[in-house]
Amino acid sequence: MAISQTTEKSNEPIIELQGIDKVFGKVTALQDISFKLFPGEVHCLLGDNGAGKSTLIKILSGVHRPTRGEFRFLNGPVELDSPRQALDLGIATVFQDLAMLPLMSITRNFFLGREPKKTFGPIKVFDSASAEKTTTEELRKIGIRLREVAIARAVYFGAKVLILDEPTSALGVKEAAVVLKYVVQSKAKGIGVIFITHNVHHAWAVGDTFTVLNRGRSYGTFRKADTHRENLLQMMAGGEELDELAVELDLIAKRDSGPMSELEHRVAEDLEAKDN
Ligand SMILES: Nc1ncnc2c1ncn2[C@@H]1O[C@H](COP(=O)(O)OP(=O)(O)OP(=O)(O)O)[C@@H](O)[C@H]1O
Ligand SMILES: [Mg+2]
Repeated sequence: MAISQTTEKSNEPIIELQGIDKVFGKVTALQDISFKLFPGEVHCLLGDNGAGKSTLIKILSGVHRPTRGEFRFLNGPVELDSPRQALDLGIATVFQDLAMLPLMSITRNFFLGREPKKTFGPIKVFDSASAEKTTTEELRKIGIRLREVAIARAVYFGAKVLILDEPTSALGVKEAAVVLKYVVQSKAKGIGVIFITHNVHHAWAVGDTFTVLNRGRSYGTFRKADTHRENLLQMMAGGEELDELAVELDLIAKRDSGPMSELEHRVAEDLEAKDN
């Protein structure tokens, strides 16, 4: 995909992070992260569960202060104390946690007084499985609407940056396509989009640049022309860790095909003694 004119024209980043760390007690969620976002760029943030993606965007959106490092917005250092301040600067975020609400109480409320029942002989009981299924489905639809509204709102109110944390994760192909179209439209308006996803196909379809996080560290930022989908997949899976795992599994396989270890002998004897 050709890089849009807006990207070529502006070589000044809207956002620049330099050497960001974020520590929660004993957990280092982010370590030495540097990151730039340009106008009219779709910058995809990729990584496995717990890689630090949401923490990074929470720093960008004023939820968390970084423990170390510099945050620059339009070339000036900023210290955000709240999402409100980020929004005032023009950083609009659609958070991942939107749909993560305690489901049972919602289900109860959703069906209050009209609970679906199933019968066990003469007894009628609350059909919680069916109720939960319906509630989840309706919530999902609301979630999609909320995301669409949030994106439309950001564009309408002149956001400079739009951050989407896993906007396509629970969606089918057609629904995801709608969100991806919004991403492309925002880009066409010169907005810098940060698009977080587990789905490399979604990222590849709309992304200009890709930053891959792994356990709080960055593998770096790659332009679409300089990488491949498979490279991104490999990095997301923690390439080297997978290689290490393969070696370990190989060792186990070899060891277990050989003679039994002393421990295994003892366990086997124990089991035999119990059987008798
Ligand atoms: N408020 C917090 N307090 C303590 N630890 C946290 C907090 N927020 C995040 N973490 C930890 O930081 C690490 C990174 O979490 P984060 O939510 O940023 O990952 P993620 O890449 O968004 O994962 P996912 O793909 O599951 O959404 C995890 O180990 C997580 O447990
Ligand atoms: Mg997350």
